[in-house]
Amino acid sequence: MTETLATPASPGTDAPALEARNLTKLFKVRHGLRRPGTVHAVENVSVALARSSVTAVVGESGSGKSTLARMLARIITPTSGELLLEGTQVPLRQRHRQEYAGHVQLVLQDPFASLNPVHSVRYHLSRPLKIHHMADGDMGDAIDGLLRRVALDPPGRFIDKYPHELSGGQRQRVAIARALAVQPDVLLADEPVSMLDVSIRLGVLNLLADLRDKSRLAILYVTHDIASARYLADTIVVMYAGELVESAPSTELTDAPAHPYTQLLLSAAPDPARAAPPSLAGAGAPPSLVSPPSGCRFHPRCPHAMAVCREQRPPTVTVSPGHSAACWLHVSDLRPSQTQAAQTQAAQTQAAQTQAAQTRATQTRPAEPAPGTKPSRHAGPDGPGKPAGPPKED
Ligand SMILES: Nc1ncnc2c1ncn2[C@@H]1O[C@H](COP(=O)(O)OP(=O)(O)O)[C@@H](O)[C@H]1O
Ligand code: SF4
Ligand SMILES: [Mg+2]
Repeated sequence: MTETLATPASPGTDAPALEARNLTKLFKVRHGLRRPGTVHAVENVSVALARSSVTAVVGESGSGKSTLARMLARIITPTSGELLLEGTQVPLRQRHRQEYAGHVQLVLQDPFASLNPVHSVRYHLSRPLKIHHMADGDMGDAIDGLLRRVALDPPGRFIDKYPHELSGGQRQRVAIARALAVQPDVLLADEPVSMLDVSIRLGVLNLLADLRDKSRLAILYVTHDIASARYLADTIVVMYAGELVESAPSTELTDAPAHPYTQLLLSAAPDPARAAPPSLAGAGAPPSLVSPPSGCRFHPRCPHAMAVCREQRPPTVTVSPGHSAACWLHVSDLRPSQTQAAQTQAAQTQAAQTQAAQTRATQTRPAEPAPGTKPSRHAGPDGPGKPAGPPKED
């Protein structure tokens, strides 16, 4: 692998905008006088981000979502694996960060922390425009254009404001505008709405949908909330204890989850008023990633665990086109009687959970992303692909 960041293949090729193959991150840790250990934060995760699509990464706190996003942004160096930008391999080490940042931008969870309180919106947006030489003409026009793209309109109302003078939703829009300043191909959004007031989350989700549709961005949407993932994303990948356990088109994954962990997540969703990660109380807790469980990492919590689950890591099985799950239940030639009994039980559990989720969905408040809804990709009064406009924020 060369040490230069090669120019990506031209747009229009079939290669994903950004692809990770078998990314692994092991953190070396030492706690006081205890022996040093290794946190298996992310192991062998592969994900492909296509243009004009949103891929959601869903999982409980500590499942490795942010570590994956930070590796994709090349803020932290993977222990092993491959990264491909438009089909071209890029070095894993953090060289050529600025050039890479011109293609891939990361938006963080807390907009207040990510914006400098002593600088105005104008400063935050002009900096990347200058550094990446993106404002050929008038800097003011370029900033106005960015503010309009994130629906902070009229721009004159916001351009000289400081972060503390904006609402949470407006601050997150400024953070997104700053990411857009370099005209990236890929936007990585790590829990972009989880710190926002419930009433303004939908507006930011609709903005991301708008950017996917109008700017052809490849978006990674990191969230603990599977209902919002279904609302926004085209594809959902589910992570558990550092591993990818299921991946499918979002509607299929939430209608017919194949992995018992996804079924558990769905059983805790949706609750639109919830700001904290889903409560899976009573269903156990995620394991330590310093010494993760043998075999399937989910086996201590899994109602369908078999002997093989404790002994061997399950293979990733294609359960239907575009839908895969890492679970022994879907390995058809494994101890047929044992697998069949567990599959029957799993199907019954899933049916009950789907029924319960549908019942809860009817109780979901209209201002929130109900699990069965999506921002429209169809033509509306504002042109093709325009989702419902974001709610007003003051
Ligand atoms: N810099 C670090 N050093 C050691 N452990 C870390 C570091 N960053 C994250 N971790 C650990 O990696 C695991 C995954 O963390 P994270 O990616 O933040 O999960 P999530 O975003 O899903 O909540 C956690 O056990 C966390 O404690
Ligand atoms: S592999 Fe076994 S323990 Fe893991 S999710 Fe499947 S049935 Fe449960
Ligand atoms: Mg996180």
